[in-house]
Amino acid sequence: METKINQNSGVISSLITHVYDSFFSRQKRMSLENEDIIVCENLVKIYKIAEIEVFALQGLELRVKKGEMVGIIGSSGSGKSTLLNILGGLDTPTGGQVRVAGWNLNKMSYRDKIFYKRETVGFVWQNTGRNLLPHLTALENVRLPMILKGKKKTREWAEELLEAVGLSDRMDHYPLELSGGQQQRVAIAVALANRPQILLADEPTGSLDTKTGSEIFQVFKRVCRDYGITIIVVTHDRSLAGAVDRAVEIRDGKISTESVRNRDIDYQDLARGLDDDNSHSKYVVVDSAGRLQLPEEYRKKLGIRDKAVLEMDEDRIVISPPDEGMNNN
Ligand SMILES: Nc1ncnc2c1ncn2[C@@H]1O[C@H](COP(=O)(O)OP(=O)(O)O)[C@@H](O)[C@H]1O
Ligand SMILES: [Mg+2]
Repeated sequence: METKINQNSGVISSLITHVYDSFFSRQKRMSLENEDIIVCENLVKIYKIAEIEVFALQGLELRVKKGEMVGIIGSSGSGKSTLLNILGGLDTPTGGQVRVAGWNLNKMSYRDKIFYKRETVGFVWQNTGRNLLPHLTALENVRLPMILKGKKKTREWAEELLEAVGLSDRMDHYPLELSGGQQQRVAIAVALANRPQILLADEPTGSLDTKTGSEIFQVFKRVCRDYGITIIVVTHDRSLAGAVDRAVEIRDGKISTESVRNRDIDYQDLARGLDDDNSHSKYVVVDSAGRLQLPEEYRKKLGIRDKAVLEMDEDRIVISPPDEGMNNN
């Protein structure tokens, strides 16, 4: 009798959990209409090793619209992976706010986080070994996340995804029988298997040559357009910046500049290298406290070190080096 009650209470509690999950997750998503799907405000991440503190993110601000594809560009150590891990719920910020798809990632319970990682975000990593299981074919790799989630019908959607990433003729190949670019295509299909709202990719083209890398960017663009998925793709390859609608540059744990596409270039043009410097407008990012970053080359050229003169000139702000002797050495 006791066992029966326990069994029943288990079923009841999982039923309550299910109703709770679907009700609250729907509520959260409903409140998201017309809002940015990703909002980072004054995001700070400090890693502490022994007594040394590393500031990986220093007041980062970022907003991403639903269905947008944003490239995050920055040199090694600038904080790109730290940001992506926080957005993916794999790490928590030290300070600031982060909201993704209606979830407040600062205040998420353990259970919510599991749900979030399973339902809301998909990951593509640089290392194909982290994306794919070697003893499964491409098709089996794509079906696996659905099977683990308890889905019965998995083949049709897996085949559609592999077709969408341009691999309909390689479905039964094992990862080792595929090129690096093809393996990353499978990885994109795997990440999309459970229909996440957001795809996070950390240097997915890092081990590929630029031409193959730009083809992978086209695949991201296609799935972004066809499935309405929001995509954040990290790269240190500046030549790939032209392949996205919006590229933000991260420097010392902060977004410093942003370039936004002016006109819609056919993604096939990009593969042929027809993108040019005039395709994007470049902006400097002004954070919520009014701070902006002056590019190092500008500062060097004008000899601006720790002070500058700021003047209003009708409809523009002029920043110039201080008078002789004002700069501290
Ligand atoms: N787990 C960690 N522990 C300590 N420091 C870290 C850790 N992860 C990253 N860092 C440091 O934070 C900074 C940003 O790292 P990361 O986000 O990996 O940069 P990126 O991906 O742009 O190369 C670097 O200085 C790095 O050494
Ligand atoms: Mg990294």
